[in-house]
Amino acid sequence: MEKLIGRNLNISVFISGRGSNLLSLINYSKIKKSKIKINLVISNNKFSKGLEFAKKNNIKYYVINYAKKKQAELKILGYLKKNKIDLICLAGFMKILSSSFIRKFKKPILNIHPSLLPKYKGLNTHKRAIKNKDKFSGATVHWVTPKLDSGKIILQKKVRISKTDTEHTLAKKVLKIEHNLYPAAIEKILKKTNL
Ligand code: GRF
Repeated sequence: MEKLIGRNLNISVFISGRGSNLLSLINYSKIKKSKIKINLVISNNKFSKGLEFAKKNNIKYYVINYAKKKQAELKILGYLKKNKIDLICLAGFMKILSSSFIRKFKKPILNIHPSLLPKYKGLNTHKRAIKNKDKFSGATVHWVTPKLDSGKIILQKKVRISKTDTEHTLAKKVLKIEHNLYPAAIEKILKKTNL
């Protein structure tokens, strides 16, 4: 893998909705010690609220029509190449990347997931944690592989589930820790691997 020491890491963030993790990454990219730059935002949904954060921060963005997945992915690969993207951060992106996409991109892809993986892969994580009367939930940043939510874990943080927590209050607690966890995970991999 090409070494990136001494220059910024060009990141593309993929979103589908609210984009609060995108915002936390944008904010992190602006602090002095940060080695990352958010160059490109990809969304499969033109109504994503997160696109506003791209607009406000003059970040290039594309809305991709996913009706035909293969074509959509080829288009995205073209944009990634054109913008010299080194790393993809999935942040609430509701489409599953094909193994062909992951292979062709050749560079690392990260995801943030609202559970303590390997527990609760997929959707409705908070509902399942509460239903199972778990004492803790949390968030995980992991490498993306063709198998959903199953790549190696980079960083994880716990939150306590209280007796009064609902799916909604737990989601709020977890989201709050996500906003620090994603930048921390990027710092961790930059320190360890000089990507
Ligand atoms: C987050 O909870 C993230 O863990 C999950 O989707 C949600 C996205 O939230 N993958 P936001 O769009 O970043 O606000």
